[in-house]
Amino acid sequence: MNVNGYEIIGELKSDNSGFAKWGFAKKDGVEVFIKEFLSPVYPEDTAALSPEQIARKRRICMDFEKNKRSFYSELNKCVTGNIVTVSDFFRWGSRYYIVTDKVDTATIKVSGVARFSLDRKLLIIKIILYCMRTLHRHGIVHGDIKPDNILLKRTASGAYTAKIIDFDSSFLESAPPNSSEEFQGDLVYLAPESFALVAELDEAPALDRKVDVFALGVLFHQYFTGELPGLDPDYEYAFESVLDGKMPKISPLVPDEWKVLLTSMLCADPARRPDVEEIYSYAYGERKKPAVPDEAPSPAPHSKLKSTMRSSGAVSDAPPVAAADAPAAPPAKKASSDFFKKADEL
Ligand SMILES: Nc1ncnc2c1ncn2[C@@H]1O[C@H](COP(=O)(O)OP(=O)(O)OP(=O)(O)O)[C@@H](O)[C@H]1O
Ligand SMILES: [Mg+2]
Repeated sequence: MNVNGYEIIGELKSDNSGFAKWGFAKKDGVEVFIKEFLSPVYPEDTAALSPEQIARKRRICMDFEKNKRSFYSELNKCVTGNIVTVSDFFRWGSRYYIVTDKVDTATIKVSGVARFSLDRKLLIIKIILYCMRTLHRHGIVHGDIKPDNILLKRTASGAYTAKIIDFDSSFLESAPPNSSEEFQGDLVYLAPESFALVAELDEAPALDRKVDVFALGVLFHQYFTGELPGLDPDYEYAFESVLDGKMPKISPLVPDEWKVLLTSMLCADPARRPDVEEIYSYAYGERKKPAVPDEAPSPAPHSKLKSTMRSSGAVSDAPPVAAADAPAAPPAKKASSDFFKKADEL
């Protein structure tokens, strides 16, 4: 099948996604990643539609197209080599598509990362922080940080580098989503304030970059240990626990010097989470001691959320990963930003 000059290899699939079909394609001899959005659908076949319906559907499509184009033009300014930017966006027939470079992804899961040496894990974490700092400096919130959206690629020297993908829940901080239709997230990584939006509570605060910090707190805990942060049996998700004033338990397998930082990243109140700039400096070796959050932080202002949480129809889920061996703990190395720019050539 040919889509706007892209020869689809095999078929587009909708694995793990209710919102898109994706796969690979070839154009001018180069293999690329291609994703088809399942909505909106442009009214191509208008026979069964009234003029009002056609006009409404066209308007929805035009808004979608305008928003995506302005977002992608901002995203494409974030050139780090490790943020997978969008090389093409177009409508073909009734569907919209994006195209990105293809990443040769290593078949390694989070439990595999947890078995890496500490140095190797920190390299991945630093690369992710470098990318997140770049995004946040451009006012971009990723919005869906989780292992599936961080592709790990083996480099020529046998190390692993990380590539950030999937900006379909992303938004500009200057234009945060203001309804549940405009935001999807994974419950395992969902920040409490994002839940307020998803559950359509009146008191939902505007989302900002701190939603990524919460998700990174969960993700880094997994990278360090192979496990999600520990929760009381009453809670299924970290956001539920923190909304009740109960901090998730940081595993003893997390290196001591990261424990306080990870705890603060999981604070219920976004204002009390560190920002990526601080976490990045810390990871770089500028070990300014992170502020110690209270043992049981006061619940976020929107703590009423807890009662409505279970009623949320929300989004995708990911099963907890298996426990991993305790990582070795050599001292972290200090690295320069040039180092990250070249992370792909390691
Ligand atoms: N550039 C890429 N190179 C190789 N594989 C990719 C690339 N981008 C995505 N993938 C693979 O495709 C999967 C789905 O891509 P992506 O995360 O963008 O969409 P999605 O999660 O299905 O969509 P959405 O979150 O919009 O519903 C990824 O989990 C990854 O396995
Ligand atoms: Mg994804």
